Amino acid sequence: MNLIVTESYAESCLYAAHQIAALIQQTPTAKLGLATGGTPVPIYRELARLCRAGEVSFAKVRTVNLDEYCGLTGQNDQSYRHFMEKHLFSKIDIDTANTYVACGVGDEQTNCRALDEAVLAGGVPDLQLLGVGTNGHIGFNEASETLTAHAHIEQLSATTIAANARFFAGSDEVPTRAITMGMQNILCARRILLVATGKAKAEAIRGLIQNDDVTTRNPCTFLKLHPFADVVIDRTLAAAAGWPDA
Ligand code: GLP
Repeated sequence: MNLIVTESYAESCLYAAHQIAALIQQTPTAKLGLATGGTPVPIYRELARLCRAGEVSFAKVRTVNLDEYCGLTGQNDQSYRHFMEKHLFSKIDIDTANTYVACGVGDEQTNCRALDEAVLAGGVPDLQLLGVGTNGHIGFNEASETLTAHAHIEQLSATTIAANARFFAGSDEVPTRAITMGMQNILCARRILLVATGKAKAEAIRGLIQNDDVTTRNPCTFLKLHPFADVVIDRTLAAAAGWPDA
C-alpha cells in the first residue's frame, strides 16, 4: 500500500483523475472499476473535461461498478446506474454497452453471478477506484465479523444508511440492502486507487495507515493485502488520522 498525502481534496481528485487518464492514454482498451458516492464526483468532472479537451478518449474503455441499491431500477434517479450516467457516462465518449452497473431488481442470485462475471469478463480491471465509508466499508462490504469474497447482497448498516441519506429525501427513503462486489472482486484489480476526504473518515483511515493489521471490522484495511494500492488523502484528513508528517 502506498500513501499519497495531498494539500487538498481538490488536489487528491486531480491526482486520481490524471492517474486514470494516464492509464487510458497508455492502454486505450483499459478496464476500470468505478465507484459512486460524493467523493469521486470531482474526479469524474475532471475526466469529462479531459475528454472534451481531446486529451483522453473512452471510446474503447470498459467499466464495471462496485455496487447498486436493491430495489432500484437503472432508471430510478437514486440508482447508481443513474449516478454514473449523470456524472460520467453522459459526459464522455464511452459506449454504454461497455459499461456495467449491477442490476438491483429481479433475481438476486442471477444478479450476483452476473456481477462476478462482469468483473472477470475480458480480464480483471486494470484499476479499481474506491471511496470509503465512515465505518471503513468499500463497495458496500460493511464492517462485520466476516467479509464475503464474491458478489453478494449486503444489509446496510445504520451508519451507512445515515451517511447516504443526504442523497435521498430522508433516511426512510434509503434502500436497506445493496448488491456489491465482494472483497475478492475488488482486490483482483491490477491496481487500486482509494480517495478519501473529511474527518468522518479519520477512524477508517487511521486503521489503514497507522499499522499493518487487517481486520474485517474495518474493511478498507484489506487494501494492505494488495501490492499496488494507492491511498490518496488530503493533509487535513491525514492529520485527523494521526499521520505524523501531515
Ligand atoms: C457508498 C458507496 C461507497 C462509497 C461510500 C462513501 O456507501 N457504496 O462505494 O465509498 O458511499 O461515500 P462518500 O464518498 O459519499 O463519502
